[in-house]
This record gives sequence, C-alpha cells and structure tokens, in this order.
Amino acid sequence: MSPILAPAADPEFSFSAGDFERVRGLIRKHAGIHLHAGKQAMVYSRLSRRLRETGHRSFVEYLDWLESPQGIGVEKQEFINSLTTNLTAFFREEHHFDLLTEQLRNFKGSSLRIWCAAASTGEEPYSLAMTVAESLRAGVSAQIVASDIDSKVLATARRAVYATDSKGLSPERLRRHCQRGTGANDGRMRVKPDLARMIDFRQLNLVEGEWNLGEPFDIVFCRNVMIYFDAPTQRKVLERIHAVMKPHGHLFVGHSENFTDERHLFRLRGKTVYERV
Ligand SMILES: C[S@@+](CC[C@H](N)C(=O)[O-])C[C@H]1O[C@@H](n2cnc3c(N)ncnc32)[C@H](O)[C@@H]1O
Repeated sequence: MSPILAPAADPEFSFSAGDFERVRGLIRKHAGIHLHAGKQAMVYSRLSRRLRETGHRSFVEYLDWLESPQGIGVEKQEFINSLTTNLTAFFREEHHFDLLTEQLRNFKGSSLRIWCAAASTGEEPYSLAMTVAESLRAGVSAQIVASDIDSKVLATARRAVYATDSKGLSPERLRRHCQRGTGANDGRMRVKPDLARMIDFRQLNLVEGEWNLGEPFDIVFCRNVMIYFDAPTQRKVLERIHAVMKPHGHLFVGHSENFTDERHLFRLRGKTVYERV
C-alpha cells in the first residue's frame, strides 16, 4: 500500500501516493499540465471539494468513477477546472502593452486579429481590447478571440464584471472603458459593451483537438500557460500557434517562458516577445 499523503493529521479523505500519481497522469493527459511532485497538498485541497460535491468517500472511489465511461463525461471538465491555476490581472507585464500600443499605432492593414490563448477570468483580453480602443486608427476593424480550457473562468470572463479596485486598472481607464455599479453593485464595474463586443470568448484546449480559429492572427498573447507544459508539449503547441499566425506577426509570452530554441518558428524581438518567421 502506498503511503498516505493527506496533509492534515486526521484527513477527511485518504490520499495515497498512488492516487496522486493517477491525478498527475489524468491532468497531463487531458490538459497537458505537468504537476510537480510537491503539489500533493494543492491537489488534495482542490479535489476534496469535488469528492464532497459528488458524494465520494475516497480518492480511489472518485478517480475510479472519473475514469469510468459514466464519470468522464460529467466530471472531466470539473476535474480540469479544479486543477488549473488562473492567476491574472489587468495589464499584467505592462511592457507588453506599451509595445502593443506602438504596434497598433503603426498598423497598416484594414483588419486586425488578436488571439488571447489563455484568457483566464478575462482581465487579459479586456486589457487587449482597451489597448486596441486607445491605439488603433479609426476605420480598422479589430477582433479578439479569447480562449481557455477552463469553463468556469470563461463564464467569469463573459460576465465582464470586476472590482473597481482591480489590480492594474488605472482610474483613467476605469472611467473611460467601464461602467461603475451602484447600490448593491457599489465597488464593482462592468466593461463597456462596445469593448466587450470586440471579444469572441470560446473554450479551447491548447494541447488537444481542433482549433477552428478562422483567419490567421496578427498578434497572439499566450502568456503564463506554457510553464505548466513539458518541453515536448510546448514545442507542439508552439508549432500549432505558428500555423495560425500571419508571417511577421507577434507572439507575446509570459515572463518566465523562453522559446529561443525554436528559431525556425519564432525570433526573439524584445523581452518575451517573438516575431513569427
Ligand atoms: C496563470 S493563467 C494565465 C492567464 C493570463 N494569460 C495571464 O498571463 O495573466 C493560466 C491559464 O491557462 C489555462 N490553461 C491551462 N492549461 C490549458 C490548456 N491545455 N489549454 C488552454 N488553456 C489552458 C488555465 O485554465 C488558466 O486560466
């Protein structure tokens, strides 16, 4: 019998090293996410909620059900949602938005397409829409496709409601791009519908299935998601991103992501910004 890993002295559910390995295998298979060995406590706390909600009394029982033909259809998405990390903010890594502003001001085409490939709760795609509204010349049409694997964060993103004191959102942008809530909604804001209409939210798994994204993109933001994938998966995803971009388009990645080995696909053009070859 493998050792029990549950963090508390008297855990609610038994959680063995074998259970943890099963979870690791399943989240890798379904989302490409490579969970490090030190993530047992995180897995226990996030999946305990699912065990409670689905009425299972142990991890073994829950995982057996999850992997059964009946369980996989209803629980796979919840399992994935529970194990993704969704940390984000408006105008995160601001230098990217400074560069984007410059690129949009110099944009020569008549229609611009941007893909935000790990949109999480929406702060990133709305930051892109705000930058487009502020910098793109009148008469150019702009479309932003914003996707994520996690159905729950996408629902939050579509709602477009955030705290007025959200990190990264300046008072000036709050005034210009958002409607403040009143009464029961005091302290909250909604992104203006004109801006929200620019964005097409959809669920998409970066490591599996068809993408069906339409016309090629001028700009792709794929930030702080590839760090969860192993190197071969990162390479595959990068090849697929390359295939949906226009030549000389720009790919923006997270602060700790580095793809300088893939020079045949992307060339480094600035701090964590690449040009599609
Ligand atoms: C840490 S957040 C990054 C959000 C945003 N890009 C940023 O930098 O602020 C990572 C996001 O990637 C999503 N994600 C994880 N695996 C994914 C996959 N295989 N396909 C698509 N999205 C994935 C998660 O659901 C999560 O919302």
